[in-house]
Amino acid sequence: MKTIFEPFRIKMTESLKVTSRGERITKLKEANNNVFLLDAEDCMIDLLTDSGTGAMSDRQWAAMMLGDESYAGSRSWKHFESTLRDITDMEYIFPTHQGRAAEHLLALTRVKPGQIIPNNSHFDTTRANLEFAKAQAVDLPCREASDLSANFPFKGNMDLDRLAVLLKDHHERIPFVMITVTNNTGGGQPVSMKNIKDTRQLLDQYRIPLIIDACRFAENAYFVRSKEQEYESSSLLDIAREMFSYADAATMSLKKDGLANIGGFFVCRNQDWAEDFRNALILQEGFPTYGGLAGRDLEATAVGLREALQLDYQQYRHATIEYMMNKLLKLNIPVVQPAGGHAVFLDAARFANHIPPQQFPGVALVNALYIEGGVRSVELGSLMFGKGDQSAPQELVRLAFPRRVYTQSHFDYLIEVVEEVWAARKQLKGLKIVKEAPFLRHFSAWLEEID
Ligand code: F0G
Repeated sequence: MKTIFEPFRIKMTESLKVTSRGERITKLKEANNNVFLLDAEDCMIDLLTDSGTGAMSDRQWAAMMLGDESYAGSRSWKHFESTLRDITDMEYIFPTHQGRAAEHLLALTRVKPGQIIPNNSHFDTTRANLEFAKAQAVDLPCREASDLSANFPFKGNMDLDRLAVLLKDHHERIPFVMITVTNNTGGGQPVSMKNIKDTRQLLDQYRIPLIIDACRFAENAYFVRSKEQEYESSSLLDIAREMFSYADAATMSLKKDGLANIGGFFVCRNQDWAEDFRNALILQEGFPTYGGLAGRDLEATAVGLREALQLDYQQYRHATIEYMMNKLLKLNIPVVQPAGGHAVFLDAARFANHIPPQQFPGVALVNALYIEGGVRSVELGSLMFGKGDQSAPQELVRLAFPRRVYTQSHFDYLIEVVEEVWAARKQLKGLKIVKEAPFLRHFSAWLEEID
């Protein structure tokens, strides 16, 4: 079938405000050319992130009504804990209010100045938390990842050769290694089970722990099932269990594959790690059985984690992304291939090849998509990952898809918008920063177009 079959029907609607091009030009100017500073209601299709923006199911909403708001040892905590134990088989389980809170407490309790933490690619908050602890966050994406149009099936993989060299030279400075599934920064690309297993084996030689950043673990499980032959008849739950079996700990933002609007966790096997994390959690997030979340949030995420592992849901989700990517490819628009798990990534360096990286071609494209069609996307390039005049290795624009929110006709509209901007690409203008913060500058920077 060519039509995407959304495996749900709509029980409640949320109106979108329809804006004109003129209104959008004014709004973007008022937001200092930074789409993070726009009001959400001025964005007709909001693809800024897939984080916390999904639609919950009737079962999740029903579970929320059962939320037990007791301070300690609530029934909702038990539900949350048993769900995560079933999926991860980790001994110690801690809720946090979102992913970066888990990352922050991990960095606080396990990272010392001067240490090195390798990852296939650190997400920006992970990197920022590690650097805040004065450690060095090192990205080791596989070689295939740098060729944006190569069709290698697991472009999210860790580069094991480079990891081996780093371990040989600096193993005493490496407190743990991370793997991010799927690799968000590298285009939402998957990590193979083999790569996770091989990383584990390498680390065993040095007795260094492995931590999975599991934000999109269910999407990764689907990729493993569809691309690694030995898993073609496995359930997504079994694949997820095997992925976690190679790890000593995991952090996760439940705003992604928890199918919830808020939440996160840290899980681990080591008692000392758990002890330190628990103490830090009490200080900063809350009592260990709620960790900054309401009982109803614990319920919503416990149900959401199971729904994310349903095969028909993942089939629909991946079909949406492939549909959009294939249509753009037919129009010769440069996109990252193969399709990632939660987004379509445009290659802004090729899209706007007349704009140098120092003038943020990705931001120029993001802003044009907003003006053209009220579509909000995000730059993953030199504004997000560069520093001063130093540019990022890639200039990507991410169109991240909230889970279960938009229909096929929204995607058809989106394709038209990208096509219009592509046709007028020579008119895109570079930008310069006029105000920036010392960390995570892309969230708040003010920019001006260069004439
Ligand atoms: N790790 C990865 C791989 C992520 O993608 C994110 C968030 C986090 C950690 C942090 O989680 O937001 O709950 O604190 N990514 C969002 C995004 C923000 O838009 O990709 P958080």
